Amino acid sequence: MNSRRSLLVGCGAYLPERILENSELAKIVDTSDDWIIKRTGIRQRHIAADGEFTSDLAIRAAHDALVKANMARDQIDLIVVATTTPDETFPSTATKVQAALGITKGVAFDIQAVCAGFIYALTIADNFIKTGQSNNALVIGAETFTRLLDWNDRSTCVLFGDGAGAVVLCGHENTDEVASYGVLSTHLHSDGRQRDILYVDGGPSSTGTVGQVRMSGKEVYKHAVSKLGEVIDEALEFNGLSPSDIDWLVPHQANRRIIESMAKKMSLPLDKVICCIERHANTSAASVPLALSEGINDGRVSSGDLVLFEAIGGGLAWGSGLVKIGQPV
Ligand code: ACO
Repeated sequence: MNSRRSLLVGCGAYLPERILENSELAKIVDTSDDWIIKRTGIRQRHIAADGEFTSDLAIRAAHDALVKANMARDQIDLIVVATTTPDETFPSTATKVQAALGITKGVAFDIQAVCAGFIYALTIADNFIKTGQSNNALVIGAETFTRLLDWNDRSTCVLFGDGAGAVVLCGHENTDEVASYGVLSTHLHSDGRQRDILYVDGGPSSTGTVGQVRMSGKEVYKHAVSKLGEVIDEALEFNGLSPSDIDWLVPHQANRRIIESMAKKMSLPLDKVICCIERHANTSAASVPLALSEGINDGRVSSGDLVLFEAIGGGLAWGSGLVKIGQPV
């Protein structure tokens, strides 16, 4: 048994002010509000303003998470930002967040696993804490994903939005008191053979350009349903739990139909699933912490609840995290 564990003690979020509704998209590409809602569940998405960068979104979400956690900035000694849309190729977005928060100790770095990024970042931070390398971590998923979109491609441009979510992980000795709290497990997977079904056609080393998202939606959909189903089973089996033990499923928000099929697979009623795709669309690495923040803020998710995260994205990369929220009072 690990001698330390990571308690999830705060969650914050930030969404850019500007909202783009489906009806506005229908003026740009050959689509309709009806098609987008029926096939995806999305009604609107937030779009970062000109001059508003991923780090700006991340900083706002981090501030919110620190306030919710009641934690001073100087207690943070690890910042992991999951993003596919860093402000610049370097320095990392995480070091910009670190500087903006006035933190000068510890480490800050980015990780890139597209839509699975938050679960990858959570796993890394949890392991830094468990090994004693870090004490308190900010784990952030932040994206200005709409900057990667081809606004002439109706099969992708309707799906994504911008935003950021963050959680504070607090290292704690693994005493009997906290033994059932915090990050109970994470499971990560990747398979590079499916690179061609979801990718960006540019990058600093290949084209020297940023590139745009290319996706075979049907193929991604099929992989999402099967791989997310497997990773949910893996998490439950690892922890000796059955689906009914889960208080909340907080899934990646890519498509309402994928979310509903995961709920059906787990025989979970939809009112046990945090779904905000309607208003956020797919915010990639930000989607899971944004959904968690919404569930906590509106009072559905509370301290002591057992929450299952899952996500899949380009790579393919996918994973799950099982967390008992908060800490004993
Ligand atoms: N508006 C109107 N029609 C459209 C649109 C649109 N926005 N987009 C596609 N269509 C058309 C297609 O051209 C096609 O027309 P055709 O039959 O004449 O050829 C028809 O609608 C059906 O297209 P499909 O692609 O078969 O539609 P599908 O039901 O599969 O829905 C969707 C497409 C929503 C993209 C779905 O496949 C999906 O959600 N896939 C998963 C995406 C995903 O999960 N991504 C997550 C990872 S993202 C990341 O990691 C960055």
